[in-house]
Amino acid sequence: MSANKPTRVWADGCFDLVHFGHANALRQAKAMGDVLVVGVHNDEEIEKNKGPPVFTQEERYRMVLAVKWVDEVVKDAPYTTQLQVLDEQNCDFCVHGDDITLTADGTDTYQLVKDAGRYKECKRTQGVSTTELVGRMLLATKAHFSQENKLKEDETLAELSKSPQGKSPYTGTTQFLPTTQKIIQFSEGKEPQPGDRIAYVAGAFDLFHVGHVDFLRKVAEEADFIIVGLHIDATVNRYKGQNYPIMNLHERTLSVLACRYVSEVVIGAPYSVTKELMKHFNVDIVLHGATPIAADEDGSDPYAYPKSVGKFKQIDSANLLTTANIVERIIENREKFMKRNAKKEKKELDYIAKTEEQ
Ligand code: CTP
Ligand code: C5P
Repeated sequence: MSANKPTRVWADGCFDLVHFGHANALRQAKAMGDVLVVGVHNDEEIEKNKGPPVFTQEERYRMVLAVKWVDEVVKDAPYTTQLQVLDEQNCDFCVHGDDITLTADGTDTYQLVKDAGRYKECKRTQGVSTTELVGRMLLATKAHFSQENKLKEDETLAELSKSPQGKSPYTGTTQFLPTTQKIIQFSEGKEPQPGDRIAYVAGAFDLFHVGHVDFLRKVAEEADFIIVGLHIDATVNRYKGQNYPIMNLHERTLSVLACRYVSEVVIGAPYSVTKELMKHFNVDIVLHGATPIAADEDGSDPYAYPKSVGKFKQIDSANLLTTANIVERIIENREKFMKRNAKKEKKELDYIAKTEEQ
């Protein structure tokens, strides 16, 4: 291989309900080479091998492309990684987390690339998985906010991944422990440059989804530097109610930081956008999507100040998806998702038993 040829890295997956665990895998994969090519499975492949995806393939392709370490997305990637696809894409090797991925008949989807010596592993992020997030959504409580109620959540998760043989070490749950190191790894560490137009947007950005991505892509057309102000959990709970937010402030911070359009995150932003806040960050324009804006605690409009100085703009993301819609999709398909999770864990346990016998 010529010294000048960039190393092209292949990573693939379902990337359903894209969370910061996926983003962290892609971050590590990108660091192993120069160009990161991500293969995303289509709905049919996922349905066949794993069960129904929460998001459609078109939504999942857009989500993956918005992750800042991704250079190219390949649609309709086969569930079992093929050497031919790596060759077609000019990729040197494939990267996957240190868990196992099995097809419907229980074989390792990375066997072919492993046998060819074109497989590298990155570290799976502990304490976050689609299974765990689905568990939270199926709970109509604030369980994930209190240690006491964590037990209740664990019970739901145990039910979700009920298996006659016990618990898989892959799907098994541990708590996510946010560290400053993770924030450093995820953030750009960039300052606005002189002359940059600075935009400020605020919100919950809970279960960071394709609606948020479509919104931020449009915001990026208006500005050079985008600051996202994330409301604290108690504030989100005040205006969204029920068990929102599904993800806590630290988790939401990482999800938002992984988005290519985001330059900086305010970890716990005041609900109303004040003159002081705008001055502090040199904000030129404050934007909000077409979704409803809840009043502040005293009944006032949180965007009254930027509106009064002509620095507020509404952006239409042309996407109606909300966090609540995702929760609805999950709850409507409760049985299917419980079965899917149980099936995933059983496959993993069977595989472990088989490899231990050998
Ligand atoms: N991944 C990770 N950390 C997690 C979850 C996923 O590093 N907490 C990695 C996987 O190892 C894989 C990539 O993300 O390399 C894409 O995985 P995908 O097949 O989409 O996800 P699952 O492993 O099925 O994710 P989940 O357990 O969340 O369903
Ligand atoms: O609801 P949340 O606080 O997460 O929204 C954050 C921002 O994303 C808001 O400005 C909202 O209007 C915008 N958004 C959007 N289109 C969606 C979902 C959210 O423009 N489908």
